[in-house]
This record gives sequence, C-alpha cells and structure tokens, in this order.
Amino acid sequence: MRVTDELSDEHISAGLPGTADLMVLVGNSWWHCAYAARGGNWPLAAFYARRVRSLQRRLGVIRPKYKERLATYESTMLGPLFAALETQDRAAFDRAFAAATDDANTQHVETGYGYIRWQLPDEAPKDLDLGPGR
Ligand code: HEM
Repeated sequence: MRVTDELSDEHISAGLPGTADLMVLVGNSWWHCAYAARGGNWPLAAFYARRVRSLQRRLGVIRPKYKERLATYESTMLGPLFAALETQDRAAFDRAFAAATDDANTQHVETGYGYIRWQLPDEAPKDLDLGPGR
C-alpha cells in the first residue's frame, strides 16, 4: 500500500471532536459561568455563556442531527440567560440557569442519554478569580 501524507475524508473526520468531547467543555464552561455570576465577575460569566453557545453551534455543524434541537435550546434557554447577564440581574440569572440546566437534562433524555444528568458542583472552580475585579 502506498503511504502518503494526503488527508482523506476519513482522516479528517477522525480528527473532529465527538459530541462527548464538546459536552465536557460545555459542562466545564457551564460550571464556571454559574460561579462567576455568583462571585460578581459578570464579564467572566458572559464569557463562559458565549463559550457554551459557540461550542453548541460547533456541535450543530459537526452533528447535523442535533442542529435544530441546539438552535431551539440557544434561543429559548440561552436567550434569557444572556438577557440576565446583560442587566447583571442575579435572580433572573439563577432562574434562567436552573431552567436551562433542567432543559439540558431533558435533551439528554430525548437524545438517548438519560443517565447523563448534569448537576452544579457544590464547589466553585478554583482556577480563576471569580470576584468582581477592579
Ligand atoms: C448547558 C447545557 C448542557 C450541559 C451542561 C451538558 C453537559 C453534558 C455532559 C457533562 C455530558 C457528558 C460528557 C462526558 O463526560 O463524556 C453531556 C453529554 C451529552 N449531551 Fe449535553 N449538556 C448540555 C446541553 C445539551 C444539549 C442542548 C444537547 C442537545 C443536543 C445535549 C446533548 C448531549 C448528548 C447527545 C450527550 C452524549 C454524548 C455522546 O454522544 O457520547 N447536551 N452533556
């Protein structure tokens, strides 16, 4: 067999992240988003909410079967979260975050992964300063 450095479609698709790979990043960003808002670092909370949105958009491209579901999630669940981040309204943020978390777990059920129930860790992440800053 001839060995070359050319990339076939098979090589390229093997290099793409899988759904679970992206979801690990979504879960991590979601956790950071919650605690950044709790700590009063609103720009950081908004950064992580945008990161969740962009990871989910990327997932919709890589897995077209989830595209419509993810677009609905973005408008109905992330929309209110972004609105709360914009106005720095902690009560509205908590409501939107809880509703979006419940809905994510419903999505897991509907996509055949009902055993994946995301929950907010008790502990805040320790890698970033979650305070309001200067
Ligand atoms: C902020 C919202 C969400 C969070 C925090 C979240 C979190 C997670 C986590 C932590 C996993 C397990 C990853 C692993 O350890 O391997 C997972 C898997 C999964 N999630 Fe989500 N998720 C969210 C929203 C969604 C949405 C909207 C969908 C709709 C398509 C979805 C579909 C899936 C699927 C299909 C899997 C199974 C992955 C596989 O194919 O192996 N998730 N999610």
